[in-house]
Amino acid sequence: MDLKSKFEQFEQLNKEAEAGGGQERIEKQHAAGKKTARERIEELLDAGTFNEIDKFVTHRATDFGIDKKKYRGDGVVTGYGKIHGRLVYVFAQDFTVFGGTMSRSNADKIVKIQELAIKMGTPLIGLNDSGGARIQEGVQSLAGYADIFYNNVLSSGVIPQISTILGPCAGGAVYSPALTDFIFMVNETSHMFVTGPEVIKTVTHENVSKEDLGGAVTHSSKSGVAHFTGDNEEQTLMMVRELVSFIPSNNMEEPPVQTTTDPIDRKIEALNEVVPVDPNKPYDMKDIIFKIIDDEHFLEVQPNYAANIIIGFARFGGKSVGIVANQPAHLAGVLDINSSAKAARFVRFCDAFNIPLVTLVDVPGFLPGTQQEFGGIIKHGAKLLYAFAEATVPKITLITRKAYGGAYDVMSSKHIGGDINYAYPTAEIAVMGPEGAINILKRNITDEKEKAEAVEEYRDAFANPYRAASLGYIDEIIYPEDTREKIINALEMTHNKRKSNLPRKHGNIPL
Ligand code: HXC
Repeated sequence: MDLKSKFEQFEQLNKEAEAGGGQERIEKQHAAGKKTARERIEELLDAGTFNEIDKFVTHRATDFGIDKKKYRGDGVVTGYGKIHGRLVYVFAQDFTVFGGTMSRSNADKIVKIQELAIKMGTPLIGLNDSGGARIQEGVQSLAGYADIFYNNVLSSGVIPQISTILGPCAGGAVYSPALTDFIFMVNETSHMFVTGPEVIKTVTHENVSKEDLGGAVTHSSKSGVAHFTGDNEEQTLMMVRELVSFIPSNNMEEPPVQTTTDPIDRKIEALNEVVPVDPNKPYDMKDIIFKIIDDEHFLEVQPNYAANIIIGFARFGGKSVGIVANQPAHLAGVLDINSSAKAARFVRFCDAFNIPLVTLVDVPGFLPGTQQEFGGIIKHGAKLLYAFAEATVPKITLITRKAYGGAYDVMSSKHIGGDINYAYPTAEIAVMGPEGAINILKRNITDEKEKAEAVEEYRDAFANPYRAASLGYIDEIIYPEDTREKIINALEMTHNKRKSNLPRKHGNIPL
């Protein structure tokens, strides 16, 4: 074969690999409102930066006549490229080849880039769209999944791992995304469940549609499995790019810094009016968040799940932070099972990846009730306490209004390692609210006027930040208009913080 023929042969093989399962199946994929694996990678990465690995790998199975059917690449496209100029590894399951199912060779390709991503210290992004285990390969497929799970676990806290679900993801296949840091879903076209509607009908006699069982709405509002939801694939992949811009490439790096023209000493007079004088009146904590951060740019995580706590990424003076904030506009900002677990996992992500925590507190306590107690609020609330206490990143806390009871301790208080703890003059820091306290302390008073006076007396004595400040539990009481500047000062002051916990194999977070 001469050189020209060799090159022509190479071109032909490349074309075959790039055609995936063929034009007909590509059209079927498009008709279902989905893009192909390669189109998705193009969309996700900076233009022209993708380098493919293992393009010519094929499966090695022989059962059920599958050896007569081979596609170069074998149902997954893997490689590396850039997002905002920074290296990432990516795999995209190709639904046009055997339904994107997991074969031994296909798993080996994913394992290879997982290992490269760990070695090079870069994020790994998985684009999932698969019929699950390739039935013709039996236990080899299960072994492949397990190898991926194993690497997911070993990578956890070392490199950021991001999963997007862009089609079916069922059975044990859900556990790789579940082990990663963030799950993105697309409205209508992505589904995740351990057992599908048919099995559920047989076992529990429940009738449920695929969408109701495991669609994006379900997982972003009911189960809390998904962290972000896009209306379509393009929007979802843009959101992945946005997330990557906030986080470092690995646990040894600082998050990337972005230049901003938002003045660090910007005074925000409007903030003086945000927290109502009446402690029972709700307000939207996001009004504070958006006003204090750089350029009003907030990437909220799980906005539709456990809305009584807000979590997300923002920047102060160009530097990334993780924000955790009670939301008085939803269930009065109370801590319950879902909000505790939601925030705890976020705090642990930020701590693992050197992202400082800014905590905004307005919390009346833990939610009372048998549902919460039987559901284990004791252990779930403990998760948040544990996560804040073990976090060694800079921890800046601001109490805007209520900080009552155990919830005061939990919300990144001074006592569990808060580096700088601020309070507004409107803060109320005590064991409980005035009415509750007087009901216990003056239980025998029946006269309503007398009771009201006692409540007022308690309010004056305890429902303020001055007791805590006199004990050094609050470092500074600040005017709301100075919030941005004060937080930036605290972040600058803590930038070189050195703190590590005692060496141990690992802690035992209450799961
Ligand atoms: C081999 C599979 C396959 C599978 C789909 N295909 N699932 N091949 N093993 N598990 C093939 C189909 O034969 C078809 O091939 C192509 O993929 C596209 O499938 P369609 O059915 O035509 O597509 P669609 O109508 O969109 O339906 C997609 C689907 C459905 C919902 C995913 O195919 C399906 O229900 N598949 C079975 C899913 C399943 O039960 N998987 C095992 C789950 S258990 P052609 O050649 O016609 O294009 C599991 C355990 C994991 O995964 C354990 C991990 C520890």
